[in-house]
Amino acid sequence: MPEASTSPGDAMPRKKRVAVLISGRGSNMASLIEAAKADDYPAAIALVVSNRPDAAGLAYARSAGIATVVVDHTRFGGDREAFERELQAALQAHRIEVLCLAGFMRLLTPWFVGQWRGAMLNIHPALLPAFKGLHTHERALAAGAKTHGATVHFVVPEMDSGPIIAQGEVPVLADDTPDTLAARVLAVEHRIYPEALRRVAEGRVGIDDPVPGKPQ
Ligand code: GRF
Repeated sequence: MPEASTSPGDAMPRKKRVAVLISGRGSNMASLIEAAKADDYPAAIALVVSNRPDAAGLAYARSAGIATVVVDHTRFGGDREAFERELQAALQAHRIEVLCLAGFMRLLTPWFVGQWRGAMLNIHPALLPAFKGLHTHERALAAGAKTHGATVHFVVPEMDSGPIIAQGEVPVLADDTPDTLAARVLAVEHRIYPEALRRVAEGRVGIDDPVPGKPQ
């Protein structure tokens, strides 16, 4: 009689090894770490990298038993490529397959972005393509936006411009301040980033997929 559920074909697919890149608080990093604890989550957070030694998120990562690396950009003067070569070496040493930028406040060169094409995600606190760049909540309020939100997208050399993987929308309320709006958006970020990483890690979405609604 054939043995049930022991063939290699039945095994759970190997989890993708993910590094999260942070510069500060790390609440999105924490949401990814928590999501990845589920047995059926297709990615493992294998490394957290910060470009700032004082990033608060590093302590959280360490307490979760995750390897951390600091690549302090101030050690490299203005030499972005030297910084990125050291970053790349750390990622390779930990056999990283997917990168998640989560409040990582360094612009990346086309060389580095090219190394991770289709395997690097970013979360941006606005409904892209609206409000690229910084201070998105202030700008959404100043523009009189009725809705706002967050976007997870693949990283391409042009900032905040890669193919969108997931978005979440929130209402803008009449008495919102940048802080109240940011808090409402952050709750959405914590939901959509783990969902987006799941879809990428399972191979259900790729950087070259046709954009819905765009003629081929
Ligand atoms: C988030 O709002 C993220 O969208 C933006 O920077 C912030 C980082 O927050 N890129 P945290 O460090 O994840 O708490």
